[in-house]
Amino acid sequence: MENTDHPTQKPEKLIAKLVLASSHPQDLVFDPFLGSGTTAAVARKLNRHFFGIELDEYYACLAAKRIDLASRDKTIQGHADGVFWERNTLSLQSRKQEASESAQPVLFEGCIPYKTTNKHKR
Ligand SMILES: C[S@@+](CC[C@H](N)C(=O)[O-])C[C@H]1O[C@@H](n2cnc3c(N)ncnc32)[C@H](O)[C@@H]1O
Repeated sequence: MENTDHPTQKPEKLIAKLVLASSHPQDLVFDPFLGSGTTAAVARKLNRHFFGIELDEYYACLAAKRIDLASRDKTIQGHADGVFWERNTLSLQSRKQEASESAQPVLFEGCIPYKTTNKHKR
């Protein structure tokens, strides 16, 4: 449930970039204007502690719900395996996932070392 009806909710992907760039796992992330709780939800998904303040009780409830969900669902839209994907690249992401699942180790037997020559040098 990334989307709420908070009027200025930020995308989790954007906040994830900031959190990853400025903190380490187990650090404390503080957002004094929590809104719908994007920062706290992302902090939880990225294994940071968090602390937030929100004036509006309804938004605080939205935030609490998102934080609870973030304990069970760690996915961040547009962020997978440490990579931030551009929008509309879902098919590319699926292909990468399939490729990595079907990848087999390659055994090089009787490999002849490549011998360099001066033939192509200028
Ligand atoms: C720009 S929104 C934050 C949006 C948030 N980043 C998100 O993704 O949902 C700012 C929030 O700060 C709250 N706010 C404004 N003044 C405040 C104050 N003095 N103390 C705590 N919260 C405040 C507003 O109710 C509003 O929800």
